[in-house]
Amino acid sequence: MRCQVSFILSIRFLASLSSVLSQDSAVSVPAGQSTALYPAYTYIPSIDADWKPHPHGLPIVQPNATIDPLSPRPMNIPAFPLASLSPFGPPPKPSTYWYEEIEHNGISPFITNGSSWKVYRNVKDYGATGNGKTDDAAAIQAAIDEGGRGPDGNGLGTTGAPAIIYFPEGTYLMSRSVQSYVDTFFIGNPINRPTLKVSSDFAHSTLLYMKDPTLGATINFYIGVKNLVLDSTDYSANTSFTLMDWSVSQATQLTNVLFKMPVSSQHTGLSTPEGGSGTYMGNLDFEGGLIGINMNNQQYSIKDCSFTNMQTGILISHVFDMVIQGMRFLNVEIGVDATTGGVGNIGSVALIDSVAQNVQTVVLTKSQVTANSTTGDDSIVIDNLQTNGVGSTVVAGGKTILKGDVTGTWVYGNAYLKGGPVTGAHDAGVTYQTFRSPLLLDDGGNYFTMTPPTYQEYTVDQVVNIKSVKGFPVFGDGQTDDTHNINAILARNAGCAITFFPAGTYLVSDTVRIPPGTRIVGETLSAISAVGSKFANADAPQVMVQVGLPGQVGVAQISDMLFTVADVLPGCILLQVNIAGFSQGDVGFWNSHFRVGGAAGSGVETKCQGGVPCKAAFLLLHLTPTSSAYIEDMWGWTADHDLDGDYDQIISTGRGALIESTRGTWLVGTAFEHNTLYQYNLVSAENIFIGMQQSETPYWQGTGGPAQAPAPWTPNAGFFDPTFSNCGVDDPNCRMAWYQRIVGGANLNIYGSGFWTFFNDNGDCMGVNGTCQNNACEIVGSPTETYWWNLNTRGCLNLLVDDGAVLETQNNNPGSWGAVVAATLTHSGILRRLVRRLGKKILF
Ligand SMILES: *[C@@H]1O[C@H](CO)[C@@H](O)[C@H](O)[C@H]1NC(C)=O
Ligand SMILES: *[C@@H]1O[C@H](CO)[C@@H](O)[C@H](O)[C@H]1NC(C)=O
Ligand SMILES: *[C@@H]1O[C@H](CO)[C@@H](O)[C@H](O)[C@H]1NC(C)=O
Ligand SMILES: *[C@@H]1O[C@H](CO)[C@@H](O)[C@H](O)[C@H]1NC(C)=O
Ligand SMILES: *[C@@H]1O[C@H](CO)[C@@H](O)[C@H](O)[C@H]1NC(C)=O
Repeated sequence: MRCQVSFILSIRFLASLSSVLSQDSAVSVPAGQSTALYPAYTYIPSIDADWKPHPHGLPIVQPNATIDPLSPRPMNIPAFPLASLSPFGPPPKPSTYWYEEIEHNGISPFITNGSSWKVYRNVKDYGATGNGKTDDAAAIQAAIDEGGRGPDGNGLGTTGAPAIIYFPEGTYLMSRSVQSYVDTFFIGNPINRPTLKVSSDFAHSTLLYMKDPTLGATINFYIGVKNLVLDSTDYSANTSFTLMDWSVSQATQLTNVLFKMPVSSQHTGLSTPEGGSGTYMGNLDFEGGLIGINMNNQQYSIKDCSFTNMQTGILISHVFDMVIQGMRFLNVEIGVDATTGGVGNIGSVALIDSVAQNVQTVVLTKSQVTANSTTGDDSIVIDNLQTNGVGSTVVAGGKTILKGDVTGTWVYGNAYLKGGPVTGAHDAGVTYQTFRSPLLLDDGGNYFTMTPPTYQEYTVDQVVNIKSVKGFPVFGDGQTDDTHNINAILARNAGCAITFFPAGTYLVSDTVRIPPGTRIVGETLSAISAVGSKFANADAPQVMVQVGLPGQVGVAQISDMLFTVADVLPGCILLQVNIAGFSQGDVGFWNSHFRVGGAAGSGVETKCQGGVPCKAAFLLLHLTPTSSAYIEDMWGWTADHDLDGDYDQIISTGRGALIESTRGTWLVGTAFEHNTLYQYNLVSAENIFIGMQQSETPYWQGTGGPAQAPAPWTPNAGFFDPTFSNCGVDDPNCRMAWYQRIVGGANLNIYGSGFWTFFNDNGDCMGVNGTCQNNACEIVGSPTETYWWNLNTRGCLNLLVDDGAVLETQNNNPGSWGAVVAATLTHSGILRRLVRRLGKKILF
């Protein structure tokens, strides 16, 4: 029987943005709030040019030398058809999580004895009881450490020792800290989230250390925590305490966690004391305590979190670029406190679609912006805020500068409008009427967001382990060509089953076709890795993973996967999305990432040595015109250093993300780094929401470097490549990757771009006034209804070239890590400004 995919068609209308909450209720500060000092942290962000490239991660000392991804074992093509499955019925809502029950046969292909590597570690198999009475801390640490994992990595590499620490339902009493490492993912049963309960006699000051102590915070990759409750309510309220140290960076996921603290206590939910270069966290609830999140990181996207009964929801001691979306502050003194960092420690903060109820001050900031400002520091953008029982919406330098709701977009920072001054207009609190495409909104008029799917409503019979299908062997062993059977199983599973890829590396020599009706879940980032001649020709690039065909409509959801290349493949497009959903979120990617080079299991690691950039892949992500996708937590990384060895690679991936989609696309917390021609290229794109995007150019570009863009590539007009014809023939700091190009298009709402250039040819910046790169971004061909909020750069002479003319310079917008512009509205169609000060509206 051919199974059918059933869908519910939901038509969404632009809902009113009007406030549902009254503005005038009395303000009451939570009782018993302490005014204790915030904890002091040691990390000092590197504002100056003292940052050096990372030489390596944790080398794999004992790789299995017999594994050869470059000469894969041939495909196993069964002569018989694959038995069909029954279509999905209504979700049965089981009491046990399918992931706990499914066969656990994930491996670590590239280390010695990797085929018996234990990926899945159920803490109960290590002696944890989950009975709330016996101390489980030692058992949990044993689950983390098994197999020689530890602070020295024991020769297993950054990617060689993946582990899932699984927590069945229960209450796990903890008497001491747990130390985790890179490539570790804590997962709880989402049906009934397990609780890690801090004992009253807890021995340390932090419950979970998620940062690997061996590696700097900015190279702590591949870490996750989901579906847990962290509870310190039994621990001394007057003692300073932190539930989680999350000093981590890209390709990390923190989601669906409740941080439960005693009310009026000195506890902090999450802090990042050692910094990091993060991308995304979301769907978190913070209750009680002193501080919900203590943020000290280069950049972050934080989505859909609640902060209840505490002094400060989010304390920002340092962040260059932060987008916080869907925040709910309830009964807190201060929603966001951005006053504690030193000069330059805060670049920009955007607060979107949020609600504050019974809050003294929603945003507390410095008195940085006046009409006479000369710096871009401390820019604040508030877009759609509902208040109820709020004292002040914004307090700057001790003075209330905004009260009540924000309908439209309020800007405190430097703004560029058509015909405005070259220095920008320093808006000390201006509200703009802005447009949001209905395609991007939920029924309440907020930007659509989605909780990462767990598929907890399905039973284990509705999930197919791709390595356990009878007669259709799939290996994921980094040495067998799995293409044929992956495609056969995906085609059969469409609309009938969720497909689980156990940890491993799945080599493919041809396109993996993902049909409508597909739901894929990986484990510790299961890798799909291209190999072979199909992907070798840069003049005729081919797609490794193709999600739907152009014009197709249906479900295609992918979580916890990694897209990579096993060889130097100049013609490889790693991921192409053509499909749109019937409903928002039908097509989505969560915690799914790219990596080109820099790790075991790829010929790129060894073949790209020798001082010249090698063309290792054509394009990472291609969203074609018919696509609509919700993308949350994605890192498109072309390696700048080796995670598993010490090979000195110079890798050139042609392109980062080519975005042509028109039907509604959301990029919530993404990062694209070190791609040669551009990181983001929006070409005739329409109806796009971007909430925090972070990028870096290739470290080898610029003065003295081995190639000047577009080299080593030839621009391909079919892929809308930039030509760099704006640059002189020999002008290395002009011939560097564009961070973002916007070429035509419409309805683009972009919040929080953090574009950092650190080097010229891996060394000091040699450009004018100490800059490393001439141009960061360009707008070409007059897109309409384009709203670009909080563009932050480092090391760039010009932030934006608008239709061939330099519009925004670092010189005119200095601040933070380099420069900050709060609002770029030259293509927005804004005709009038709605100014609101102290609740009074003035139209002009
Ligand atoms: C691999 O397994 C063999 C056989 O169990 C054992 O002797 C050897 O020590 C293991 N090697 C490593 C590096 O763990
Ligand atoms: C290396 O990999 C091969 C192929 O999977 C396997 O047969 C062999 O046991 C592995 N050797 C070690 C020492 O892990
Ligand atoms: C906590 O500290 C406050 C202020 O120092 C004090 O009044 C209170 O008794 C302390 N509570 C406990 C439980 O120690
Ligand atoms: C800006 O500068 C002018 C001229 O120096 C001065 O009169 C004015 O008060 C200043 N405005 C603010 C907001 O500081
Ligand atoms: C370099 O810096 C100086 C001093 O701030 C400034 O006058 C000059 O315009 C800058 N040059 C460029 C090209 O931005």
